[in-house]
Amino acid sequence: MRRIGILTSGGDAPGMNPCIRSAVRTAIYNNLEVIGIKRGYCGLVEKEFVKMDRSSVADIIHRGGTVLLTARCEHFKKKEVRLKAYENMKEQGIEGLIVIGGNGSIRGAEKIYQELNIPVIGIPGTIDNDLPLTDLTIGFDTAMNTILDAINKIRDTATSHERTFVIETMGRNAGFLTLMSGLAGGAESILIPEIDYSIKEICEKVEQGYQRGKLHSIILVAEGIGGDFKTNRETCESKATYIGNEIRKCTGMETRIIILGHLQRGGRPSAMDRILASRMGARAVELLLDNIGNKMIAYNNNTIEELDIEEVLKAEKKIDKNIFNLAHILSL
Ligand code: ADP
Ligand code: F6P
Repeated sequence: MRRIGILTSGGDAPGMNPCIRSAVRTAIYNNLEVIGIKRGYCGLVEKEFVKMDRSSVADIIHRGGTVLLTARCEHFKKKEVRLKAYENMKEQGIEGLIVIGGNGSIRGAEKIYQELNIPVIGIPGTIDNDLPLTDLTIGFDTAMNTILDAINKIRDTATSHERTFVIETMGRNAGFLTLMSGLAGGAESILIPEIDYSIKEICEKVEQGYQRGKLHSIILVAEGIGGDFKTNRETCESKATYIGNEIRKCTGMETRIIILGHLQRGGRPSAMDRILASRMGARAVELLLDNIGNKMIAYNNNTIEELDIEEVLKAEKKIDKNIFNLAHILSL
């Protein structure tokens, strides 16, 4: 293999940049040429190629987002569009590909390998941490810390005013980000898609807390929770608003609502994410050098490993109910 391509796809995640840096520098160290592909899979179709060298990834280890830009490229789901991407890769001499992204992006990577027979390595990069068979995805730790910082700040004002705050967090259809941030932030109630909730129980907990002398209540609501909601990211109609209104109705207490939104996706990657990203990026290149494709890099038991993409996409990632119960007990 002489030349590889690299792209970031789907929602950006802090740590994508250190991952690009690691892959590019590991490749160059091993005499491979690297082509950066801009705007995710759209760049493969539109031939948005840039030659990368050591200096093109200088000074990015500490930056959030992705210097390669990213996109949700819906038409890549069509086979004829992927064939165009294949022709472009052939024309550019790209013999292997690294895709950094979430669930959907890894699905796209699998298609490239299966249909086009180009070795592809997926690297899990999403704040949602919803990819199966890996303990962590790049960006999760930073996003958790961002949420924690927000909870700490909200706690100050919540305490001063003796108020209940409902905070909405991202995570798409999964509750990993919300659950772990809730445990770390000492939230009174954590609402996630995987576990049923009862407004009545939440209200009782809020009331009992105040009766015991608590000065605030913090309720974390994952954007993916079920219920009869009307939501719209663009107009900020949110699930947290509904939950906040219900709590106000049943307790008669003042509530405030915060939607953390895209704040959770930005910011300098944490040390954990930089280390994870650097290790994963390097491993992806090593696999391509061995002509291995159709793998997703994973992190389990402090070890970087590779798994068949098929196996990952067939698996289910489950919430650890013990963690949910622990957060509940600690907040009583
Ligand atoms: P994420 O990777 O963060 O989960 P998306 O689900 O939006 O984000 O997926 C990112 C991109 O991956 C999509 O916009 C599309 O280009 C590609 N993709 C997703 N699913 C498929 C699929 N089934 N086949 C081909 N490409 C896909
Ligand atoms: O997958 C990352 C994520 O931030 C999800 O948590 C969220 O549901 C989604 O992306 C938001 O996507 P967009 O930036 O396209 O609104």
